[in-house]
Amino acid sequence: MAQHIRTAVFPVAGLGTRFLPATKANPKEMLPVVDKPLIQYAVEEAVAAGVTEMVFVTSSSKRAIEDHFDRNFELETVLAQRGKDELLAIVNDILPKGVNCVYIRQPEALGLGHAVLCAKNVVGNHPFAVILADDLIDDDGRGCLAQMTTLFEQQQCSLLGVEEVDHNETDKYGIVKANKGDGRFGRVEQIVEKPKPADAPSNLAVVGRYILTPRIFELLESTGAGAGGEIQLTDAIADLLKEESVLAYQFNGRRFDCGSKLGYLTATVEYALKHPALKDEFLDYLHRYCLPPKK
Ligand code: UTP
Repeated sequence: MAQHIRTAVFPVAGLGTRFLPATKANPKEMLPVVDKPLIQYAVEEAVAAGVTEMVFVTSSSKRAIEDHFDRNFELETVLAQRGKDELLAIVNDILPKGVNCVYIRQPEALGLGHAVLCAKNVVGNHPFAVILADDLIDDDGRGCLAQMTTLFEQQQCSLLGVEEVDHNETDKYGIVKANKGDGRFGRVEQIVEKPKPADAPSNLAVVGRYILTPRIFELLESTGAGAGGEIQLTDAIADLLKEESVLAYQFNGRRFDCGSKLGYLTATVEYALKHPALKDEFLDYLHRYCLPPKK
């Protein structure tokens, strides 16, 4: 019987060291791009893909994420009393009806693979999505995950969202070698975590979107520490592709690495230039103070 993706796991327990000191007490996933935190963009993308069960793998410094998706009666009451209906709707729409959130603690930041394994009992024996909220993906359609769930409905196997990166940046990513396949996707033949450019099998990098079969949990249980001393999801995927088809999918859309300062700044500028209420004034500001005068 064809399976559907109803659950998404959001590993949000990383230390966010690239964004210190901002991330010392605040989760990096709560950094706003214009007016919405990264984690809300990620949840909206999951909702657009038909996901109803949101599983957050959190840590002690990430309580703000739970609060963001919870009701805030005081704020709602004040907004209602003051007749701020638009703002009240924004607050009430953060989590659509019929969507459930579950929070699990990753007691120690032992790596992305370990964080995903923490979700095993909640996900159960079903295929599921993984979204890394710090990879913000802008597409003009229903979102990157919806592209992937559509492909999953046809292929019924694990999928990795990939994009081409600069050859000299392969040591920041999981890198795949995939056969040419059919258009935007191909079967993964090899996957390596953070290879040096000279050792990389290609420049196709896995970014923060995955659809995985539940077999990954059993494989993660026996995955030891890998690159950087962390339990790497990449290593378990390398085992998975010995047993099952795993497809690399080159999604439509532009990715911003909001875990890095430069990626975050770029996303902020791009999203501000698309924001209906801000774009004109912001562009005007850029022309006045930041850009060379128009000839
Ligand atoms: P990153 O590699 O971006 O690590 O993790 P990080 O700790 O968040 O950030 P830096 O590199 O120190 O700046 C990729 C994703 O995996 C999650 C992170 O929250 C992020 O979404 N993660 C990583 C965990 O949930 N637990 C971990 O132990 C490690």
